[in-house]
Amino acid sequence: MTETDAAHPASATGTPVLGNASGLFCRECGQTTELGPFYACTECFGPLEVSYDFPRLTRADIEAGPANIWRYAALLPVPADIASRPTTQPGYTKLIRADGLAAELGMRRLWIKDDSGNPTHSFKDRVVAVALAAATEMGFKVLACPSTGNLANAVAAAAARVGIRSVVMVPANLEGQKILTTAVYGGTFVTVDGTYDDVNRLASELAGEHDDWAFVNVNVRPYYAEGSKTLGFEIAEQLGWRLPDQIVVPIASGAQLVKIDKGFSELSSLGLVEDKPWKVFGAQATGCSPVSEAFARGWDVVRPVKPDTIAKSLAIGNPADGPYVLDVVRRTGGAVADVSDAEVTDSMRLLARAQGVFGETAGGVTVGVLRKLLASGQLDPEAETVIINSGDGLKTLDAVAPEVHVPSAIKPTVEAFTAAGYEG
Ligand SMILES: Cc1ncc(COP(=O)(O)O)c(C=O)c1O
Ligand SMILES: [Zn+2]
Repeated sequence: MTETDAAHPASATGTPVLGNASGLFCRECGQTTELGPFYACTECFGPLEVSYDFPRLTRADIEAGPANIWRYAALLPVPADIASRPTTQPGYTKLIRADGLAAELGMRRLWIKDDSGNPTHSFKDRVVAVALAAATEMGFKVLACPSTGNLANAVAAAAARVGIRSVVMVPANLEGQKILTTAVYGGTFVTVDGTYDDVNRLASELAGEHDDWAFVNVNVRPYYAEGSKTLGFEIAEQLGWRLPDQIVVPIASGAQLVKIDKGFSELSSLGLVEDKPWKVFGAQATGCSPVSEAFARGWDVVRPVKPDTIAKSLAIGNPADGPYVLDVVRRTGGAVADVSDAEVTDSMRLLARAQGVFGETAGGVTVGVLRKLLASGQLDPEAETVIINSGDGLKTLDAVAPEVHVPSAIKPTVEAFTAAGYEG
């Protein structure tokens, strides 16, 4: 028995049973290993990824499942009975036909995958639910993370739901709403005087010392990241088991973008959708745009930056999946672009005004990049397009507060209403 096995009761008696997941493999050199709390290749330190033996699966099998991500349990590294266990039951969020925004932008068919409808109002509930399910099977007793905000919300809530301890760490300068919506769940909450990349480094050191703590995006990252495939699965199913032509995804670590593409590929290879080409586009804020820079310059590696943007949820200066984002985007014929903070707030307001969707700053980044790539001709206005709204505008109110007009009060009389010019 290895030291790691000794620390994890479930793996002490063998490898964990995680549905159809069959093992882990290195994304760089392909070396394989058994399922367990491993995240880096022992040969080359490359990131590990989950492999599967998928059964024959039909659309009807999936459609018979619950209205949350567990309808895709057969395609995730989770116990087969996960749907009957206590979880936050994220997913199956709305795919909104965005005719208002499409008209504004001169597009033919546009959809918004609105992940603000999740239990803690961002797509992070998906990845956390999968990480927690796998971590529990591996015997972990504490759920932890470094976070840019939304992940902290999701980890604190998921741990409270199952009654285990959470330890979440964030940069202290986050939006007040994200601080409060984490603190309310009552776990161990650490605010750190530093950037996300500082917090991430601290988490990696702590993960080395506390091997009974599951840091969702560090030592159980291979399982966590798989949760974002469900965005791809749902988009295809909600389009009537079809893949879109183009998709625009915000980038922080880059995992969401890479896994949406993987989700599309899996559905296609399982014969659940007709195979067709799709293009993946990535969105960053200019104040934290290392992947966009690498794309523009034709680099294969991503040069870390020090973030300075109002899009704090995307402020990861050294994105773990950056090189894999470049692979996906180049392979599919997409692009990565970035927009200024002024364009982010302007796009948040456009999304609200034209479509009735109030997204957080990450949504503003995505809509801003959508506009930019339409203007440059890199996105085709005639092609069916999906954009991801990954979080809720109520968590980043300060970003739009200076530009939203709030009227002064009138007396409760018709005269005052008329005098204020509200009749027309
Ligand atoms: C709202 C929101 N959108 C997108 C992302 C990007 O996710 P990823 O790190 O998988 O690229 C984040 C990450 O924190 C986020 O909070
Ligand atoms: Zn390797």
